[in-house]
Amino acid sequence: MSGMRHLVSIDDLSIGELNQLFEHARHFSENLRDSTGACRGFIAASIFYEPSTRTRLSFESAMLRLGGGVVTAADMSTSSVAKGESLADTVRVVSGAYADILVLRHPSEGAARLAAKYSTVPVINAGDGANEHPTQTLCDLYTLWIEKGRIEGLDVVLFGDLRYSRTIHSFVYALARFGANLVCIPHKGLELPDYVLKRLHEEFGASPQAADVSRLGELAGSSGATYIELPGPQRSQLHPESDRGVHLVRRVDAIYMTRPQTERFADGDSDLDYVSLNPESMASEALSDAVVMHPLPRRDEICPDFDADPRAIYFDQAARGVPIRMAILGMLLGQLDFDADPTEPKQAEHSVNQPGNPCPNQGCVSHTELRQVPPCYRVLGDSPVRAACAYCSRALEAALVGELGQEQAFCPDSPKARQIPVERLVFFRGPQEALAAGYTA
Ligand code: NCD
Repeated sequence: MSGMRHLVSIDDLSIGELNQLFEHARHFSENLRDSTGACRGFIAASIFYEPSTRTRLSFESAMLRLGGGVVTAADMSTSSVAKGESLADTVRVVSGAYADILVLRHPSEGAARLAAKYSTVPVINAGDGANEHPTQTLCDLYTLWIEKGRIEGLDVVLFGDLRYSRTIHSFVYALARFGANLVCIPHKGLELPDYVLKRLHEEFGASPQAADVSRLGELAGSSGATYIELPGPQRSQLHPESDRGVHLVRRVDAIYMTRPQTERFADGDSDLDYVSLNPESMASEALSDAVVMHPLPRRDEICPDFDADPRAIYFDQAARGVPIRMAILGMLLGQLDFDADPTEPKQAEHSVNQPGNPCPNQGCVSHTELRQVPPCYRVLGDSPVRAACAYCSRALEAALVGELGQEQAFCPDSPKARQIPVERLVFFRGPQEALAAGYTA
């Protein structure tokens, strides 16, 4: 491994690296108290702008078990943020002499990507708003790998708040890459966001279908279930048994419950009738081998009466956060052996060439941090010309594109649009916006 690496999105790790992380984690878990001091002399800084129990404590425990040290800003309201310091400045100060690696949790989407831009040391995203939580996904994937011996071809049911759960978003991107099959049973109004579905479709060829989940008993509730078919290495057990194109869910390998993320709810969102799992609702034959996972904390979505059931593995899952975080700390600090090929480098980042901020996501750090966040984009493809915010990765809504300093705007799928140098692109949501900027459409 060469060059400094960050873990901002679960996509920053290749499948080969993920498998090697699991091997290292298993090795660490065999003797947590004798970890050979792989990170002796290194310091991790926890910078948490949102509450946390498991993520922060397991990271700090992991670093201490590796022989390293930790410094903690667990409540940023007591830091210089209260004096108006920007995230960029905080990161510049803490990275380097204070710490050799940063673990950051922040309410704005794309905050970790912003931090990575200003940090002189690796940054780990410990949750950025509703966007991603890649180290929870490491813990979740590692748990599946231990419990089921594989991830490929597993049938995983995702329940509850699929809209605001960052753990779900990182998890589905990773499950898609591993070729697992997904059944989404969202709480009404808390379905997987369109941008996640779009990405699953564009990057992984996933196509959502209706699912018949009646065999999941009460758990299915009245929500519209979706089966997301992934072109994985092994085909699903969730065979289509009818010719109506509705997938019948027969046997499930894992159930992933989520807490309603009420702290991120918008007006009109409700957690009334939120799904609740109990011993009776798990009695269905289809669920007899299904391990039940939850990133925790739980509220009422898993009844404590179910805790003694052998399928209830959420506390083991939380415990596994320590060895897997030891593995990722050791990897990013260059202290563990990895020979798997890394992911392809990301597309280059460009400052926007127009006034204002074309990122459509109002929860993005490019909108919420007022200082030192110049709007930037990356070009994802040229047929049609597609770009995304360089911080939160949300696609820019460009009905027309133009070239800086020119006067004509084009449809993104036209040959003229393709000829515009990527660093000179200007994005317009529609003809009126183009006209107002002096372009003819
Ligand atoms: C999750 C989070 O913060 O997104 N918690 C965690 O890190 N284990 C899930 C949640 O808060 O519901």
